[in-house]
Amino acid sequence: MILVTGGCGFIGSAFVLRWLKDQDEPILNLDLLTYAGHPGNLAAVANDPRYRFVRGDIGDMALVQDLLSQHRPRAILNFAAESHVDRSIAAPQAFVQTNVVGTVKLLQAAHAYWQSMPGDEAARFRFLHVSTDEVYGSLQASEPPFRETNAYEPNSPYSASKAASDHFVRAWHHTFGLPTVTTNCSNNYGPRQFPEKLIPLMIHNGLKGLPLPVYGDGQQVRDWLHVDDHCSGLRAVLDHGRVGETYNIGGRSERTNLQVVHAICAALDSLVPLAGGGSHARLITHVKDRPGHDRRYAIDDSKIAGELGWQPSITFDDGMRQTIQWYLANQDWVESVTSGAYRQWVEQQYGGRPGS
Ligand code: NAD
Ligand code: TYD
Repeated sequence: MILVTGGCGFIGSAFVLRWLKDQDEPILNLDLLTYAGHPGNLAAVANDPRYRFVRGDIGDMALVQDLLSQHRPRAILNFAAESHVDRSIAAPQAFVQTNVVGTVKLLQAAHAYWQSMPGDEAARFRFLHVSTDEVYGSLQASEPPFRETNAYEPNSPYSASKAASDHFVRAWHHTFGLPTVTTNCSNNYGPRQFPEKLIPLMIHNGLKGLPLPVYGDGQQVRDWLHVDDHCSGLRAVLDHGRVGETYNIGGRSERTNLQVVHAICAALDSLVPLAGGGSHARLITHVKDRPGHDRRYAIDDSKIAGELGWQPSITFDDGMRQTIQWYLANQDWVESVTSGAYRQWVEQQYGGRPGS
């Protein structure tokens, strides 16, 4: 079996769903259920005997050690993180706690467990750390995309915390021999993304007729990748990635934020025309820029493409249409994950009982 952390979040839940579709191997999910984690994302597999959920913190070493010795996973995939740049600017401490301290504690627990494994199992074991392209900093328009050899130049508290975690993963490999692999992926989009990130926020606001807040001039560039393609890249790295290496994963889909927002508006115009006519684009509102806003991210995926034969398979236009249709069909999901009632339910269900 394998252990994933943060499996109730956006990317982790996509990974778990796909895993259980693709093979019989059981999967254990350790998730703290912060505001960004929703067991409902995995309702479809909640009763599957191959799936097991435990609420808890990656930084709770006693709990993680118990889970490892009880379930004996052959791999750990670390998705758990605080993941939103704007929140990291407003309140950085949680990013240090989970992304840095939590990852180090997870590494310590994984290392002790790995050392206890018989030789052949230890040789097969992998610790896959899921990270971001934001660790490389910001590109000028004329610069080539990020390669794995680029220097780390994180600019936000979020990217600084992910960069720190990547360094600790590297150190646990070089110093202690833990068989790690790290992936640095570009911006993801797709179903079940919490509506604080650009794409789900714009879809949600567009559907409600609310302003579409574009930071600054909207000319910042991101390289968009459908979450299912990210998961297939993670699978390729887990199965065939070289130990101790890092792999960049990207979408080959650079777009300015304004291009993305206009694409969403055009899709909404045809799917749910505004009463009284006109385009959703009239809701676009330029607002104050994010402090320290990175101008451009872009990925050179030649390493993962050349070594592992991976490439994205979902075009931006197809993926975006499919994503908007998912949000249209699941408007109650957005209501439920943003409601106070949901937080109350989490507290009632799990409050004060980590590890349950
Ligand atoms: P998310 O915010 O949607 O989900 C994070 C999950 O981690 C939630 O389920 C949350 O409850 C859980 N979690 C948070 N703190 C925890 C802790 N201390 N212990 C256990 N669980 C905890 O994030 P996401 O967008 O799914 O991102 C997953 C990973 O991928 C993150 O490491 C992120 O840095 C990385 N990443 C994300 C993107 C993107 O575009 N979303 C791109 C590249 C890399
Ligand atoms: P986001 O989804 O927060 O991802 P990241 O900051 O990790 O790239 O933001 C994507 C881009 O969209 C980023 O350049 C900031 C911009 N943005 C807006 O213009 N308005 C918004 O309301 C949000 C949330 C983001």
